Amino acid sequence: MNAEELLIRLKKRTRFQSCHEVTLQELSKTMCPIAQEVALAFYDYLGLDEETHRLIWAVPGRVERLYTTFANWYQELFSGCYDAAYAKRRFRIGLVHARFGIGPRYLIPAMGIVQELSLEHLSEVLKLHQTLEAVKAFEKIITIEIALIEESYLAALEHGLSLGHNNIPSALKRGATALLQDFQT
Ligand code: HEM
Repeated sequence: MNAEELLIRLKKRTRFQSCHEVTLQELSKTMCPIAQEVALAFYDYLGLDEETHRLIWAVPGRVERLYTTFANWYQELFSGCYDAAYAKRRFRIGLVHARFGIGPRYLIPAMGIVQELSLEHLSEVLKLHQTLEAVKAFEKIITIEIALIEESYLAALEHGLSLGHNNIPSALKRGATALLQDFQT
């Protein structure tokens, strides 16, 4: 299944509708201005863990680059446009992590931190009657993000195994590397 077909199924299963797209787009004026701040807090959090610290700070200049790519990713959560190109970009981001062996045990807690930081801000700036709709739409898009990443891992693993890499970490990394060749932008 390609990323676009996957997104269609995920929208259906999360009951993500055009009203949620509109809500997220309306939230952009509230949430996009804090993208840099969320990025800084996010990498501060990753820096506290020995393993993630090693991965992020392994290469000079990497964290500085990630501040920007993460902030772009964050702003796109509130673009209001969740189409085939969006699905492909998100699937590709999953593969980038899989190529480094950064699997669900890193990604899912990190996504929890994104939720925590965002919900704190939403609860501070929105009026009570706006909050429920905002949280519903936000949680749906985060669920979709997580599912796209998870599916990209499975695709990478399956591909790596099919290439003859029987060791799981190596199948994940090699499969992701091979699949990324189809995702050059
Ligand atoms: C909510 C979770 C996360 C999001 C949204 C996120 C977002 C991103 C984005 C947008 C990129 C750039 C992808 C590209 O090349 O186009 C990236 C790359 C990367 N991320 Fe993450 N990330 C997350 C979690 C993590 C975690 C937990 C780690 C470490 C354990 C990590 C380590 C990396 C590394 C090493 C790269 C590649 C950097 C490079 O190209 O040098 N990420 N991430």
